[in-house]
Amino acid sequence: MIALKTIFAQIEYSMSEKDFIPAPYTTLKEEGTVTYSSPSNIALVKYWGKRENQIPANPSISFTLAACVTKTNVHYKKKVQNRDEFSFDLFFEGEAKEEFKPKINTFLKRIVAYLPFLKDYHFVINTSNSFPHSSGIASSASGMSALALCFMEMEKAFLDNITEDDFNRKVSFLSRLGSGSACRSIEGPLVQWGETASINGSSNLFGIKYPYSVHEVFKNFHDTILLVDKGEKQVSSTVGHELMHGHPFATQRFDQAHSNLEKLGKVLADGNLVDFISIVESEALTLHAMMMTSNPYFILMKPNTLSIINEIWRFREESNTHVCFTLDAGANVHVLYPENEKDIVFPFIKEKLVPFCQNGQYICDRIGLGAKKL
Ligand code: DP6
Repeated sequence: MIALKTIFAQIEYSMSEKDFIPAPYTTLKEEGTVTYSSPSNIALVKYWGKRENQIPANPSISFTLAACVTKTNVHYKKKVQNRDEFSFDLFFEGEAKEEFKPKINTFLKRIVAYLPFLKDYHFVINTSNSFPHSSGIASSASGMSALALCFMEMEKAFLDNITEDDFNRKVSFLSRLGSGSACRSIEGPLVQWGETASINGSSNLFGIKYPYSVHEVFKNFHDTILLVDKGEKQVSSTVGHELMHGHPFATQRFDQAHSNLEKLGKVLADGNLVDFISIVESEALTLHAMMMTSNPYFILMKPNTLSIINEIWRFREESNTHVCFTLDAGANVHVLYPENEKDIVFPFIKEKLVPFCQNGQYICDRIGLGAKKL
């Protein structure tokens, strides 16, 4: 059994882009509608730096979220002419959004080799987020994965049979081509992406459901997202990734991510929250340290981000709880804590941390199980 598992893992490990080109379709439906809801995710070990074709410079792992989701509905209708171009209308929260179209167009160009039907249809894409749109919460993970799911659901109808594993793997692969972190949004509660020696079956091409045991304490883990700054970021993630090329600490950082992932594996199995905190907080601060030491350098944290971090450290010390923080590429703070401490931690958040949020805004989220077909 173990030997077989290892062989399967090695097969997945060596999969290449070509494996995602589909067999000829049996039928192409004239018209139809498909709807998916797909969540955001929060990385514990951060993806920061990439090579061509959205290949990550280091492995990462994330908690899938439950409340922050994008809902996308795609209506498709076969075209009679103009089969050489993509054709779609895009509505965000009910309004036509011309400014989002170039990003979708780039996505379609990147994935058409793997979904050859894309030029045969006109699409009407209706999408909305469960979180406020100018909240500073990156919607690319949930947004790109929701769209990839809709397209993949179409392909599923055109092929004779496709297993759930193949479906999830290909959606993750396609989502990655839209936005790297999006490949970690399909399943839950923990998804790992990027080849690394400590995880069998890990791949640079797609995320996999974390394949090892996870301690009870991580079930229902909370993530209260404090919206510190809702403004447009001065530096996008895409530019930030780019700045890891030639970064003076890049090699050390990429090595560190492999080793943190290996250490986290032990923590996830034995539920040691003290060690969990030290890995997760160090990853968050290292991410921002990379920004501060790139050329050009930049800072995405705000004074209130630091005030919140200090308050968390002070409270953790005096309450003996296991509340900790992580950050994504922005000023907002994700406050993580286990279910059995919520009655102590949440009142603290409301009283001491929410005053640092812009307009007092925050989102109560928790670990989730992935995308859903609606
Ligand atoms: C800091 O996935 O947004 O959130 O691949 O360019 O779309 P692109 O970048 P993106 O980068 C996310 C970076 C991060 C860390 C993480 O989620 O692992």
